[in-house]
Amino acid sequence: MTNGGPGERRLLIRDLEQLATPAGGGSPLRGAELGAVEVTQKAYILCSAGRIEAIGEMSRLNLPNGEVEELDGRGLCAIPGLVDCHTHACFAGDRVDEFSLRAAGASYEELHAAGGGILATMRATRAAGEDALGAAVEEHRAWMLHAGTTTFEAKSGYGLDRDTELASLRAIREAGGVPTFLGAHAVPPEFRDGDAYLDYVIGEVLPEAAGNAEAADVFLERGAFDARQARRYLTEAQRLGLALRLHADQFTEAGGVELAIELGARSVDHLEATREHGARALGGSDVIAVLLPVSALFLNRPRPPARQLVEAGAAVALATDFNPGSAYCQSLPFVCSLACTQLGLSPAEALAACTVNAAHVLSRADRKGRLGPGYDADIVLLGAPDWRYLAYHLAGDVVARVIKDGETIWQR
Ligand code: NIG
Ligand code: FE
Repeated sequence: MTNGGPGERRLLIRDLEQLATPAGGGSPLRGAELGAVEVTQKAYILCSAGRIEAIGEMSRLNLPNGEVEELDGRGLCAIPGLVDCHTHACFAGDRVDEFSLRAAGASYEELHAAGGGILATMRATRAAGEDALGAAVEEHRAWMLHAGTTTFEAKSGYGLDRDTELASLRAIREAGGVPTFLGAHAVPPEFRDGDAYLDYVIGEVLPEAAGNAEAADVFLERGAFDARQARRYLTEAQRLGLALRLHADQFTEAGGVELAIELGARSVDHLEATREHGARALGGSDVIAVLLPVSALFLNRPRPPARQLVEAGAAVALATDFNPGSAYCQSLPFVCSLACTQLGLSPAEALAACTVNAAHVLSRADRKGRLGPGYDADIVLLGAPDWRYLAYHLAGDVVARVIKDGETIWQR
């Protein structure tokens, strides 16, 4: 440690077995670039004032002057801190009863249509109060961190009323998350239909939500909102300066991909029902395809066409979709395992999809998602001899240490 203030703290992680970082530039990775991971054997990382100052081979390390804290990297591999660009981490209660019903044969859509599902979590979330909601996001943030997630997005969408939606966005920001306003998640029972609810959301909630969120999201699906309603909500959100995201093609192809492209959305997420023409359209666009393989697994749904998307040239990201109904799982390493075993991605593609490309979804790729000089010193150390254990060790405790802004914030 230097004798200066925290701004001058330096950390040297030395003798790492490997350092692995996706290639990266100013735009999301696609095609062959998505699988281009740079691996350095016997490596070091030097951090200073919360940023990465230098990386390289141990044999080329020039020991820095002054006091430096050293960390022994033997037996460890370094990858960038993981970026979870799609979670619903702000909720109260659980849906364990519905989980049991689903195990006995009920479907997610049936439970939703019967007033359960998202609306069951809405009731618990409205009843919780802002303090309890804040505590819930903090708890979920800690779970994510232990799995290597150093940057996370979280959506509102379980309040569906002004006060609870705004409280949710505040709770997410206070826990260090990137807040997304999912005001159009479901139609709450006090409104006669989706149009009446959107009148309320657009008139009474969106203007203030826009000051508390970075993006707006909509659930475009039968039983939620259709393409006409989604266009209306998103157009208004865009006018207020929010980036746009869509939950689309989860169960049915209902025009979400086309709408995302038309409006220049940041991402379109799910895509389990997307067919070839949708994949091709995304390949020719700047909209990032966010795949959520846990959700497909947890609901026993078809897998999204990841390989087709990559071959079509689409920018693909991976996320957990962490939520109490369709994906009760906070682990991006597990998502990477599913990406490799179920979606046909390589470990390199999976790594890029939940680091660099996920950082692009959150508009933070200049500082997050890579290991390189100038990037934030957000680093995951894997307790493994090869970085690909990230995906290889299925549901394993592969994360040994998590460093954020140059400080260890968790260690096994
Ligand atoms: O991304 N599908 C819509 N929203 C969430 C699930 C929300 C819930 O079931 O509570 C999703 O899967
Ligand atoms: Fe989701």
